[in-house]
Amino acid sequence: MSQPDRLWINVTLFDGQNTAAQPMAVAITNGLITRVCPMSELPVAEQAAGELIDAEGRVLTPGLVDCHTHLVFGGSRAGEFEARLEGKSYEEIARAGGGILSTVRATRAASEDELYQAALPRLEALMAEGVTTVEIKSGYGLTVEDELKMLRVARRLGRERPVRVLTTLLGAHALPPEYQDDADGYIDLVCNRMIPAAAADGLADAVDVFCEGIGFSVAQCLRVYAAAKAYGLAIKGHTEQLSNLGGSAAAARAGALSVDHIEYLDDAGVQALAEAGTVATLLPGAFYMLRETKVPPIELLRRHGVPMALATDANPGTSPIFSLRLMLNMACTLFRLTPLEALSGVTAHGARALGLQQQIGRIAPGLRADLCLWNTNNPAELAYSVGLPTLVRRVFAGQAL
Ligand code: NIG
Ligand code: FE
Repeated sequence: MSQPDRLWINVTLFDGQNTAAQPMAVAITNGLITRVCPMSELPVAEQAAGELIDAEGRVLTPGLVDCHTHLVFGGSRAGEFEARLEGKSYEEIARAGGGILSTVRATRAASEDELYQAALPRLEALMAEGVTTVEIKSGYGLTVEDELKMLRVARRLGRERPVRVLTTLLGAHALPPEYQDDADGYIDLVCNRMIPAAAADGLADAVDVFCEGIGFSVAQCLRVYAAAKAYGLAIKGHTEQLSNLGGSAAAARAGALSVDHIEYLDDAGVQALAEAGTVATLLPGAFYMLRETKVPPIELLRRHGVPMALATDANPGTSPIFSLRLMLNMACTLFRLTPLEALSGVTAHGARALGLQQQIGRIAPGLRADLCLWNTNNPAELAYSVGLPTLVRRVFAGQAL
């Protein structure tokens, strides 16, 4: 075997699922992980590599995956935050034309370049904490042109920064004012114009919906899924966030990669996820910001072996939080995940929520060399403390940056 480009020795390895019991070595060549083995089994010849990094027991994890964000948007909703502090609910604000629709107005008014410049620091904040893959949704344009504009910005972010960006068309996020009394007409637009246009330009990897009283019905979401699948796009859902409509089970049966939020998910819903192999994505930032009290059914998900991903849901309304590290802590404190479950949520299971489990999210031979070295010897520290410990090194596709 030829010598690797980089060889890490003496690492405390969290491979995306487990922490190794002994010091490990990880070799990478041509952007791929080529060897993962205990130090005691490292061949002598392999020790003289292009670059040798002695981790001295520090934790090495897969590059972090933020599998659910809305980080391209115009404007700010700080005023709405203040209104909520005065007692108004998220749903009341939305029904009065604020909420998502206020961001729609600002996003429509912004140029593509303005949206890009506004999104860049948000993306960089995530990257500075170890994110190497991020999913970015549209959903604040709600016209064919404005949705495509958002998706083009997301694609550009991925071209201009060392991070993998997956894009998701979220046309069915809210009913735009032009279709106020015609939700089915708007769903026609999503299915017949938005999805085909996004697919034709290669701008969307997946299609998402907001299945909720203030969003769309299960029947409408199923129409969107059928259209997405006809164009070969993956499907996902914002489901059971504020109430239980059965959207998660419907999405799972339609073949969704993940259902996200799921505070109100019930027993039947969890079983449907288990049967379909759909990932449950937890978004504690939105739960925290909305001061929700209904916790997702974590124990039930565990019992059924449903993989739990964890993401920021970074967005201007319900989760203006651009820190995946903080989500690790919140998943433990608010949802009672273990630190290792939380870490799996932002690595192996986050990758699965994007359909990328064969490429990223774990440290194993053949996977992409997206890696993070942390200034701690204990993986649990990453969920335990907020602000510390820090990222020592972030490797994207084999390149240390
Ligand atoms: O994931 N639930 C719907 N969509 C977003 C919120 C978007 C917004 O309030 O701007 C979410 O929470
Ligand atoms: Fe969301």
